[in-house]
Amino acid sequence: MSINKSVDFSLVNIGLLVTNDAELGEGPLGLIENAALSVVNGKIAWVGNSSSVDKSLPTVEAYGKCVIPGFVDSHSHLIFAGDRSTEFAARMAGVPYSAGGIKVTTAATRSATADQLKDNAARLITEMQESGTTTIEIKSGYGLDVVTEERSVKVAAELTSEVTYLGAHVIAPEYSSEPDTYVDLVCGEMLQACQPHSKWIDVFCDRGAFTVEQTRKILKAGISAGLKPRVHLNQLEQGEGIQMAVELDCASADHLTFLTDQDIALLANSQTVAGLVPACDFSTRSAQYPRARDLLDAGAAVALSPDCNPGSSYTTNMPFSIALAVREMHMTVDEALYAATKGGAKALRRSDVGQLSVGSNADFVLLNAPTYVHFAYRPGVPLISKTWKDGNVVFTKGASS
Ligand code: NIG
Ligand code: FE
Repeated sequence: MSINKSVDFSLVNIGLLVTNDAELGEGPLGLIENAALSVVNGKIAWVGNSSSVDKSLPTVEAYGKCVIPGFVDSHSHLIFAGDRSTEFAARMAGVPYSAGGIKVTTAATRSATADQLKDNAARLITEMQESGTTTIEIKSGYGLDVVTEERSVKVAAELTSEVTYLGAHVIAPEYSSEPDTYVDLVCGEMLQACQPHSKWIDVFCDRGAFTVEQTRKILKAGISAGLKPRVHLNQLEQGEGIQMAVELDCASADHLTFLTDQDIALLANSQTVAGLVPACDFSTRSAQYPRARDLLDAGAAVALSPDCNPGSSYTTNMPFSIALAVREMHMTVDEALYAATKGGAKALRRSDVGQLSVGSNADFVLLNAPTYVHFAYRPGVPLISKTWKDGNVVFTKGASS
């Protein structure tokens, strides 16, 4: 997203630095106190104690505060038009969430121009940078016809390299009586139109969306076309899809509000990251949150994402997701921070983001707090002072944009 050439500099006087590199510092978060880091050509060139920093580079002061890797949001639905606040208010008055609401956004998205879709997504990306997110996966999935899905992935590709084709978000309204014909469209003409602009393929495998067999067929078609698979699973009910997700080596299986012990064991013995989206469970008033504690105890890799979308989770805010993960899913603060950074990177199969090792992208965030624990300890308080992506400042608190 940042196109300007970065200026080389050192960030000094960092009270607490999270590197997520256990070889650089203490514990899995690779913590270093009284730290500094140097940025050269948009990459991390050096990390260490403040007293050893390269004095020849210009310096930027961290004032003894905490610095973390930029958040990696591996699950977002930013390409849409319209608003579903009426549906949210009705839900809070007792109407249950259902996948069918997606079609309301589909009608608005089909009638929006590419510029309108891009402006809306860019507004949300600005929010993400304000809350510390520097890497963003973006899905299509509100077009549900060839023209609008293609428009959606093209717009997404202008905003991120992590573009996901989600033509299989729900059965398009015009195909409600012939769902398998829609599956064929998703695997055929729509895939051909979207593949050149996409890296990933995703399917919403759940009640009111796609069956496990339909999901397998769609993901396999995407894999044959050169896309990598990821999947929405078990948000609304206990399904049978985990085995399929693991067999197809999905990079992540997301939501997972309902999981059996066997599902957890399968994930723990796979390369598939459990992508948990507690803000969605919060906003849909789900009966329960995912079993994050059990997943972690079994050894599964966990990512956290706000799952920004206009229906089930209209928030871009990773710190809010961390607070929910700690309070509602019994993750420790360290586990939640790791899931929001390195976990997201694993879910995107990236090693250049989500950590601050030498050679990593210079994506990091200065907090107005002495420690990242404040994300959960001070929920709802905006704690981000400055966000850098590829060595460029993309957000400064208090600066007019
Ligand atoms: O991730 N679960 C499927 N898709 C979105 C919600 C879509 C909507 O309600 O608009 C999600 O929660
Ligand atoms: Fe989603």
